[in-house]
Amino acid sequence: MNLQEKIEDLRKRTLSDLLSVADEKTLNNLRTVMLGKKGELTEILKGMKDLTNEERPVIGALANAFRDEFGAKFEAKKLEIEQAVMNAALESESLDVTLPGKAQKKGSRHILTQTQEEIEEIFLGMGYEIVDGYEVETDHYNFERMNLPKDHPARDMQDTFYITNEVLLRTHTSPMQARTMDAHDFSKGGLRMIAPGRVYRRDTDDATHSHQFHQIEGLVVDKNITMADLKGTLDLVMKKMFGQERELRWRPSYFPFTEPSVEVDISCFKCGGKGCNVCKHTGWIEILGAGMVHPNVLEMSGLDSSVYSGFAFGLGQERIAMLRYGINDIRGFYQGDVRFLEQFD
Ligand code: DAH
Repeated sequence: MNLQEKIEDLRKRTLSDLLSVADEKTLNNLRTVMLGKKGELTEILKGMKDLTNEERPVIGALANAFRDEFGAKFEAKKLEIEQAVMNAALESESLDVTLPGKAQKKGSRHILTQTQEEIEEIFLGMGYEIVDGYEVETDHYNFERMNLPKDHPARDMQDTFYITNEVLLRTHTSPMQARTMDAHDFSKGGLRMIAPGRVYRRDTDDATHSHQFHQIEGLVVDKNITMADLKGTLDLVMKKMFGQERELRWRPSYFPFTEPSVEVDISCFKCGGKGCNVCKHTGWIEILGAGMVHPNVLEMSGLDSSVYSGFAFGLGQERIAMLRYGINDIRGFYQGDVRFLEQFD
């Protein structure tokens, strides 16, 4: 065989080998065997030195054409193999989108949080600010500033968790009255706030008592605030929460930090006043304590009680939620049992 025939023969074999290659390793081997230092084409081309001047460019051109053709077919094959590898991978890793998904349990806001947010919304709409207080409070704010000096008998109304003689877990959100009055700049106008939060009492937990529960304190202080403002405000809020047909009943009561003090009942939203188990057959449900801010409380915050007056009220969040949703055990709020909590999603 002359050189030309050898190249042609090599070309035929190589191109047919190339056709049957199915993996990258064999493909690369083929290139080494062909074009490498000891490759077949290289060997053949070593014979070029024996050619005549006329033959050499002809054979050279032939060899180059073959090398180019091989290069192009090599790249095409390489791409084809890569595609096949990729397709196989996609095939084996493919997802069956028709399989049923894993159900993810969705959390929801706690019923107490929902109740709190609903009440906040009502007061925000009336221009109140919402303030946050301290659950660890001082005797000073929790009692003294609420007109309950050290020897005051009404301190017994609230069994207290003391941390030290002067530091305690707040027994009510009322200390926020004094704290917000202290912080408020009355030269810029009156004060309207609610303070929601957790409170603590030394109590044995049962269906209606908990050593930890939630209140929402309300306070409005300005010039010329009267009992009529208190009545109008609470009437509006309670109707928004329990229905427009509700009526309020005001009973005189006693709290050390208000004078006069009232307890407010709402006409039963279940039986409409006829008498049922929710209202204990009285037609009325006790819903909150309130009153006109005691002059002492105003004076202790540096306000002149002959110029400023105010009203305050305290709501129990659990009580409101229990009444509205017919919950009869307060412990349900704290036990984290999803079967209880899910009912209020
Ligand atoms: N602090 C009272 C309690 O925990 C509730 C209360 C009653 C708050 C009357 C008030 C109020 O602001 O005016 O029992």
